[in-house]
Amino acid sequence: MAERLAIHGGKALRTAPFPAWPIFGEEEEQALIRALRSGKWGRLAGCEVTAFEQTFAAYHQARHGVAVVNGTVGLRLALMAVGIEAGDEVIVPPYTFLATASAVLEANATPVFADLDLETFNIDPAAVEAAITPRTRAIIPVHLAGLPVDLDAILDIARRHNLVVIEDAAHAHGAEYRGRRVGAIGALGMFSFQSSKNLCSGEGGILLTNDDELAQRVQSIHNCGRVAGGAWYEHHTIGGNYRLSEFQGAILNAQWTRFDEQTNTRDRNGRYLAARLAAIPGIYPQLRGPECTRHSYHLFAFRIVAEEFGMSRDAAIQALIAEGIPSLAGYLIPLYRQPLFVNRAFGPYRGCQAAHPALDYGRTSCPNCETICDRQGAWLEQRLLLGTQADMDDIVAALQKVHAQAAQVGVG
Ligand SMILES: Cc1ncc(COP(=O)(O)O)c(C=O)c1O
Repeated sequence: MAERLAIHGGKALRTAPFPAWPIFGEEEEQALIRALRSGKWGRLAGCEVTAFEQTFAAYHQARHGVAVVNGTVGLRLALMAVGIEAGDEVIVPPYTFLATASAVLEANATPVFADLDLETFNIDPAAVEAAITPRTRAIIPVHLAGLPVDLDAILDIARRHNLVVIEDAAHAHGAEYRGRRVGAIGALGMFSFQSSKNLCSGEGGILLTNDDELAQRVQSIHNCGRVAGGAWYEHHTIGGNYRLSEFQGAILNAQWTRFDEQTNTRDRNGRYLAARLAAIPGIYPQLRGPECTRHSYHLFAFRIVAEEFGMSRDAAIQALIAEGIPSLAGYLIPLYRQPLFVNRAFGPYRGCQAAHPALDYGRTSCPNCETICDRQGAWLEQRLLLGTQADMDDIVAALQKVHAQAAQVGVG
């Protein structure tokens, strides 16, 4: 007889909490006081943001890093820097945070959605290729959950069609593709430092690149169109004040002291968890091939296939939560089904409408994305992967318990 589930009044498998996020201590306190007492609270006067940019860029094998107010703005600035114009099309996945696509609208261009690979949750290169038109100028692949996309295939498509690749690495701090850190493998890459991210300062972001000219453009755009050597009130290009503050820089420098070790812990626990969960019928962890030499596991993504697991995704998540394992279904709406896109509520950004008057996102169909959103996708937050191996065993035991009960009584 399978053990009664906590959601049905049984005893919860686990009551101990998982690690909380963010993790902070003396280092952050001292860094904040250092920035405060310096009296230099803006990045142009201080040294915290500049030091962080150099550290973060070098770690990701990039020549340049420009910190910005957040990842959303970072993507828009990247699109501006590479010269995206009204009427241009930019290929994006539909399974990502809104910003990947809304930044394209804000750059006055048109997002075109290409479906995912069901097993990796990442954009499918074949779908990218099929979405290319004479107006396509760029691709924004997202390293979803921290698993690098198939960069060889994406870069090959980009070369053949003369497209720019901007990596959305909001989830992928420290992730590696064939031994190389992601973020500056394409023309530009964006990382987010929003509160939930693996490296965070409340809000913030950074753009990385190995291209000197692009770096200069981003520098200028993020600093009101100023240029090196120019006067303070001399503005050469459209831009704005998108600079990170020294307080955020100080927090990032302090968080950095723990980053590498935390990243290794998540990678180790993620591998272990994926191997153990794969043995449970109907549980499919995000498929990680050998080309991923380090997964940043911003999320531990997996699929729950109800027909094999014995319970629907939504019921299983509720059961897991009751067992003491915080879990969530993740993105529930493919971006093209968001009211924003269905109603084309693009406000003052007229580029997309003007170039594509008949565009109807209601006709977009990405079946794999819909399967994941509607029925199968599930996530664990990165903080859970900062726990011990015994914590990972609890996650496995909880899913085993739910499956055993579901198999016996066919719940949900
Ligand atoms: C995949 C992805 N892209 C872009 C962003 C935008 O970053 P931010 O929240 O820093 O604007 C996020 C963040 O939530 C994200 O998850």
